[in-house]
Amino acid sequence: MNIKNRDKKLEGLDKKYIWHPFTQMKDWTEETPLIIEKGTGSYLIDINGKKYLDGVSSLWVTVHGHRKKEIDKAVKKQIDKIAHSTLLGLSNVPAILLAEKLIKIAPKGLTKVFYSDSGSTAVEIALKMAFQYWQQKGAEYKNKIKFISLYNAYHGDTIGSVSVGGIDLFHQIYKPLLFDSYKIESPYCYRCRFNKTYPDCNLECADYAESVIKKHADDTAALIIEPLVQGAAGMLVSPPGYLRRIRELCTRYNVLIIADEVATGFGRTGRMFACEHEDVSPDIMAVAKGITGGYLPLAATLVIDEIFNAFYGEYKDLKTFFHGHTYTGNPLASAAAIANIDLFKKEKILQKLQKKIKYLTIRLKEFKSLKHVGDIRQKGFMVGIELVKDKKTKMPYPLEEKIGIKVIKEARKYGLIIRPLGDVIVLMPPLSIKMDELKKILDVVYTCIRDVTEKRIMTIFNH
Ligand SMILES: Cc1ncc(COP(=O)(O)O)c(C=O)c1O
Repeated sequence: MNIKNRDKKLEGLDKKYIWHPFTQMKDWTEETPLIIEKGTGSYLIDINGKKYLDGVSSLWVTVHGHRKKEIDKAVKKQIDKIAHSTLLGLSNVPAILLAEKLIKIAPKGLTKVFYSDSGSTAVEIALKMAFQYWQQKGAEYKNKIKFISLYNAYHGDTIGSVSVGGIDLFHQIYKPLLFDSYKIESPYCYRCRFNKTYPDCNLECADYAESVIKKHADDTAALIIEPLVQGAAGMLVSPPGYLRRIRELCTRYNVLIIADEVATGFGRTGRMFACEHEDVSPDIMAVAKGITGGYLPLAATLVIDEIFNAFYGEYKDLKTFFHGHTYTGNPLASAAAIANIDLFKKEKILQKLQKKIKYLTIRLKEFKSLKHVGDIRQKGFMVGIELVKDKKTKMPYPLEEKIGIKVIKEARKYGLIIRPLGDVIVLMPPLSIKMDELKKILDVVYTCIRDVTEKRIMTIFNH
């Protein structure tokens, strides 16, 4: 089959059989899909051999680049032994070794690892554990059955994780299916709900959080938070001190704190985990995405002894955590995760990252002068550039303008793959990206935002 025919065939099969996630399929069927066949380092390569910089780490997962020799090797070595066996009633070598490594790098106090296979399941497990913990702790805690979560939060797509989500665009429709959670304001400084400016605000959003936590402490099991960055809402970076305050409030009012480090974990914010920036140790921590360096689906929910101990007892007492996914602790994924974590030390990833973070910060300042760039948010290697129709009033673009989509489509012409969150242009390159590649990403994004928002080019879209 010649190349053209193969492309057409794949495109036809895709459109015939695949329902893509978070995608309006009508739009999809009207355009020519980009089909990826290979990857190397910071690049994705399509079926025609065209190379694209992977500007969002293949949905925030790639850490050391694609086809990283050490991770390839670890997976191949493991596959020669066994691809999968269960953790239900058995154990396996890579899952054991990985658990030790995770606890060694995790914030202090976390001592036990419960595996699953996606960020959503890691969160779902965290919620169920927090709930069951209080049920088993004693009769006086039986009322602690609710959760506190943040507006603009995103914790995944399963029903439990959607229940503690706070993005109406994704979550509204499912309301009748969800359990209620008490909501606190999102620390979204650019559009502060209290009309204050940091630092003069004295973290009024945290004061508000205190009023909610205090009021509902008696019937609340846990508060769940994306530490430092609310990712899917558009990389909303919380002001310094906010996370620390929330941790302190949870301790004061006897509410567990669940840190959802699914997006922020494994170096994304410049530290191994975002909690480290404010010296916070959560009671429960959910991790996924970067855990395998972007190779295989794996997730983990880490807990403190106090929680684990509440489940520990005689079989007949039924304190068991009755939860477990089929691929829990999968040996192949665990082997990839071990290699991923080892590379952090071997290649001094976090030390080397600091220079790149500084460069990003400096270059992003240039974007401020663009006519339609309202806000630039950055924490380490997590960047959100919020585009607005009117900078003075902060008026957003109407949905029909699909401004974020137009910018990322333009970037593709320059060989850059990025994915927006509404009107927010997201940058989250692999931590291993080279300086000249990072420079190219920033040059392209600057040009594309300018050209699309200032209408220097005619973008023709049929949707
Ligand atoms: C903070 C956070 N939690 C949970 C999830 C869900 O992870 P997954 O898509 O692996 O289920 C995501 C995904 O983007 C996330 O950003």
